[in-house]
Amino acid sequence: MSLLVKNIRQIAGLLDDDVQLLKGAAMQQLQTIDNAFLWVEGERIADFGSMDQPEMARYAAAAQHIVDAGQGWLLPSFCDSHTHLVYPASREIEYVDKIRGLSYEEIAKRGGGILNSSRKMAETSKEQLIEDAMERLAEIAAYGTGAVEIKSGYGLNTENELKMLRVIRELKQRSSLQIVSTFLGAHAIPQEYKGRQEEYVDLIINEMIPMVAGEELADFIDVFCDKGFFTEEDTDRILNAGMKYGLRPKIHANELARSGGIQIGVKYNALSVDHLEFTYEEEIELLKSSDTIPTILPGSAFFLNMPLAPARKMIDAGLPVAFASDFNPGSSPSGNMQLILSMACIQFRLLPNEAINATTINGAAAMDLSHITGSITRGKLANFYITRPMPSLEYLPYYYGVNKVGMAFLKGKRIV
Ligand code: NIG
Ligand code: FE
Repeated sequence: MSLLVKNIRQIAGLLDDDVQLLKGAAMQQLQTIDNAFLWVEGERIADFGSMDQPEMARYAAAAQHIVDAGQGWLLPSFCDSHTHLVYPASREIEYVDKIRGLSYEEIAKRGGGILNSSRKMAETSKEQLIEDAMERLAEIAAYGTGAVEIKSGYGLNTENELKMLRVIRELKQRSSLQIVSTFLGAHAIPQEYKGRQEEYVDLIINEMIPMVAGEELADFIDVFCDKGFFTEEDTDRILNAGMKYGLRPKIHANELARSGGIQIGVKYNALSVDHLEFTYEEEIELLKSSDTIPTILPGSAFFLNMPLAPARKMIDAGLPVAFASDFNPGSSPSGNMQLILSMACIQFRLLPNEAINATTINGAAAMDLSHITGSITRGKLANFYITRPMPSLEYLPYYYGVNKVGMAFLKGKRIV
């Protein structure tokens, strides 16, 4: 299959194939070509250039499909490196409790929150979970997402954690999005382990991790290292056990309090540390000496009225920062990465170019996928979207709240 996209107002987000992520000041760079074409062979980007180039005529003659971009912008699909989008039911009742003034921790203490989802997870069939998640994947793809990380963590026992991960494995096969899976057995302490937290950690280490690894169900391992959830010591033990099975950490840290999660993440060479609302100079310094990618989740900060993570400071300190949706039923019921892009600019003071890089190439890097996606690069997956007509690229984060994606392509096929 070959595809020519012509009449592109501008391609934005070109990168050389040796660039895996962008750090600090380099995040401001966004390579572009005006009045461009893109040439796709099979699932991959094969070429691109200016409409004036002689190749254009050759591709036009050879193309099996030709798409007219109508002077829209063409950008690499969003890479959403942190979601919990396999879940059994929405939780809008808690949302009302939150409006009434209950905190996330208070809701969790009353058996709401993650435990609420975990009760429903046990009752929900694999088929239902797959059907619902496929719908959510179609929804985020229509908003421009092409690669996504999905976590387990609503099972909270061996049977149901495995069930969730098998659902994600099925999604990897059925969906045209690029999906990576993360084992998050340490998402909350199940009711029956109240007061016996250590025993639950033992169960994760001695039973869940070996079984997850045995079936090769997870690409990464995660722990919710935070106040009221898992301690530094729990996190250290779990990550240490996971690493023995080759599971690289991507962890929840400093969402509700300064948890020490960044320190443990750096110690175990985590691919990313995520949330980071309660993060200070000391942690920023530590991250500078590591390959761990700080990942900011504005959706949950917005939804829970949390302080904002110091993303601007991190970039100014030279770090590579990724932004992701945290799509989940409790603290961020949206996987709309265009909204995340706008929040990154408005609330976190990222320049539009920085925000685009944070949600594409750096998101891909935070899933270890930047060799195949996250930019417009020859040989990478043909995952991109074309915007509706816009006056400028800055309009993309500026005109927030509506879908600016006119057409979306995943692995060379039009999906919207
Ligand atoms: O990333 N922080 C922990 N986990 C999710 C919330 C999951 C839920 O409430 O269902 C988060 O915010
Ligand atoms: Fe999360």
